[in-house]
Amino acid sequence: MRGKFLTVEGIDGAGKSTHIGFVTQFLQARGKTVVSSREPGGTPLGEKLRELLLHEKMHLETEALLMFASRREHMAQVIEPALAAGSWVLSDRFTDASFAYQSGGRGMDRSKMEALEAWVHPQLQPDLTLLFDVPLEVARERLDATRTLDKFEREQGEFFARCRAEYLRRAEQFPQRFVVIDSTRSIAQTQQTIGEALEKLL
Ligand code: TMP
Repeated sequence: MRGKFLTVEGIDGAGKSTHIGFVTQFLQARGKTVVSSREPGGTPLGEKLRELLLHEKMHLETEALLMFASRREHMAQVIEPALAAGSWVLSDRFTDASFAYQSGGRGMDRSKMEALEAWVHPQLQPDLTLLFDVPLEVARERLDATRTLDKFEREQGEFFARCRAEYLRRAEQFPQRFVVIDSTRSIAQTQQTIGEALEKLL
């Protein structure tokens, strides 16, 4: 049986990394094989593209195209084979992040993004997307308390406000696969919501 495709999303500082391990453990405890991966990245070529994407300045359409180049490779090398083998795939970000960051944040025409999505994965969509949502001030505080910031993390508040708005718009557009998680709540409360969402898929 084909596995399920799960994605986690949110603006930088929304706290998704805290919960990725929990999702994996929850599913493994219920007998699933979980392949955990990320975008941009997830393959040797994808990780090279990630280095460029996170640290080099580039035209916004170059950025979008490289995100999808990394995604195409990730699908071919990791996502599709794993799903076909019956594994569950957990990707830290996927195309919703391109809508949020390149369309919402940077302002790339949404119709171009839709064209890329239709080209690169006309059939594939996540079965579940966990969107970690926090007010901008909370995200900023979390970022400032962490490591050296990359190109995206150094962006200003208005950029993240547009990213967040686009994420929430996507969640409204695809309510059947999105679960929006208020990431200001306690870890225990958040994990309960995640567990309930996962149970529905099992
Ligand atoms: P990460 O720090 O959560 O691993 O994500 C890397 C950065 O890449 C993050 O700031 C969001 C950004 N990103 C995009 O701008 N577009 C995309 O399509 C993806 C997958 C990530």
